[in-house]
Amino acid sequence: MIDPSDAPAFLAWLQARRSTRVFTDAPVPRAVLARLIEAAISAPSNTNRQPWRFAVVRAPALRTRIAEAVRAKADEIKAIIARGHHAEDYGSYGDFFHEPLANATAIIVPQYRSYPDLIANFIASGGGDPAQYATASAMQAELCSTCAAVMTLLTQAHAEGLGACWMAGPMIARDEIQRTLGIEAPWQMVGAVALGYPATASAAPPRKPIDRVATWFEDDTHE
Ligand SMILES: Cc1cc2nc3c(=O)[nH]c(=O)nc-3n(C[C@H](O)[C@H](O)[C@H](O)COP(=O)(O)O)c2cc1C
Repeated sequence: MIDPSDAPAFLAWLQARRSTRVFTDAPVPRAVLARLIEAAISAPSNTNRQPWRFAVVRAPALRTRIAEAVRAKADEIKAIIARGHHAEDYGSYGDFFHEPLANATAIIVPQYRSYPDLIANFIASGGGDPAQYATASAMQAELCSTCAAVMTLLTQAHAEGLGACWMAGPMIARDEIQRTLGIEAPWQMVGAVALGYPATASAAPPRKPIDRVATWFEDDTHE
């Protein structure tokens, strides 16, 4: 348990989490990965739907297959972009799609599924028009819940001394990865998390200052 007096230290610890892209060869024990999943499923979810699943890939050949599928798609995209005007802007961007996967010793592929919108259905059953009301589907609540689960997973990874990088890049090979891991509708992958013990320390990318991202309403004079 963290004492509230330790909250500033906890914040400093949270701020020290980094996306890690280079890992040592040391395997991540299954028990450690199981704790990451325990952490993930402690996340809040809309009406406690727990709309998540996780493919936990330790098998080396399978990891290579996933990384290679992403690399192949990245190369395909690179060749297309090279024909246009953005080859220079794109640069080595595509490397960030697969390189962390290629040297990770574990890959977790989080998945979410949507459910029928309960409240929208209630409104419709009373003869109302659900389109008149923003309900859970307006915020893709199941996707949000699964992203919350991924964040708790990353936080546990930080506590375990692991490096992790949650990546959207592997989405370019979504169909191949889903087929490889047997992920079928209604489930959909939400990127992939590369995991392992960090080989190098990563620099902290700057954050926007809180005054740029938070709007405070502290009294009622704004009305
Ligand atoms: C949804 C999401 C997608 C991301 N996709 C990638 C990716 O494809 N490749 C990569 O190297 N990093 C990826 N990142 C990591 C970000 O680059 C990183 O979080 C950001 O630069 C801030 O660095 P930090 O996590 O060390 O604080 C992603 C992060 C998030 C949350």
